[in-house]
Amino acid sequence: MNSGPNPGEAAPQLSDEELKAFVRERFTKTAEVFGDYAVTHRVTEAETLARMVSANENDRAVDLACGPGTLALRFARHVRWICGLDFTPAILERARQAAARDGLLEKVAFTIGDAQSLPFADGSLELAVTSYSLHHISDPARVISEMARVIKQGGRVGVIDIEVPEDPAIRALNHRIEFIRDHSHSRSLTQREFESIFAAAGLRIMGMEHKSHPRTFEHWMHVAGWKPSDSEYKEARALMIGSIENDGANFQPRFEPTDVCQPGKEPDLYMLNPGIYIAAEKI
Ligand SMILES: C[S@@+](CC[C@H](N)C(=O)[O-])C[C@H]1O[C@@H](n2cnc3c(N)ncnc32)[C@H](O)[C@@H]1O
Repeated sequence: MNSGPNPGEAAPQLSDEELKAFVRERFTKTAEVFGDYAVTHRVTEAETLARMVSANENDRAVDLACGPGTLALRFARHVRWICGLDFTPAILERARQAAARDGLLEKVAFTIGDAQSLPFADGSLELAVTSYSLHHISDPARVISEMARVIKQGGRVGVIDIEVPEDPAIRALNHRIEFIRDHSHSRSLTQREFESIFAAAGLRIMGMEHKSHPRTFEHWMHVAGWKPSDSEYKEARALMIGSIENDGANFQPRFEPTDVCQPGKEPDLYMLNPGIYIAAEKI
């Protein structure tokens, strides 16, 4: 699927190469700040996915677009062996260092590669997982079909990503805000799109969960490399605040007091990142 029409009218449609250049730039620039956040805050998410796909000691696995090793470092504790693959060298190096520090190098290896074209033979693995990657990739259906190709029949696929509702106006505003924050954001998918991509790849969905992650707007922008004084920060914040009344971008933004002990302090802008977790098996 080459993503179809871009739901964010204000955001240009990028070629695959342009998008990849933005992805590498973003995750090189934020390798430390994003890496620290993802590896520490997504442990429960990784363990949830491990449970959903029944990760076990017989599994040879791949974590595509592994970034700082968010899934790979957790799955290494469950599976026989896992390869983390990513095409941003800076963030992959960070993953490798974390694996060495945690004494996991016998169970996990890291390699540079493109999630749209995996360096594994057909049916050579039991498990393929990825998290928060598909919305950065121009052809997410190709990634899912690659995941299906490299696992055996009866093997499992696990995906975590952000999701958007069907409403085109909400999707458009959601995309506009995401794109201002991060030019390497390609497109968030709806549940129906995930379902049809999985079905087309010959994958039967075994389990699906929806979990939203509350965070401050400031932190969300911080891990993308922005400061409150940046124009991108101000523009995204204004759109986010404008969407409070009707939740027009599906982030459920709201102001909340930061600290009752600091009555003079400005309330923080909070938001939710709606997440979808999918476990499937190859039929
Ligand atoms: C939002 S981060 C997610 C990292 C990690 N999976 C996590 O959940 O924290 C997206 C990652 O996807 C990688 N990426 C994007 N497109 C890719 C592609 N086509 N092939 C390999 N990696 C890709 C980026 O380099 C980045 O590390």
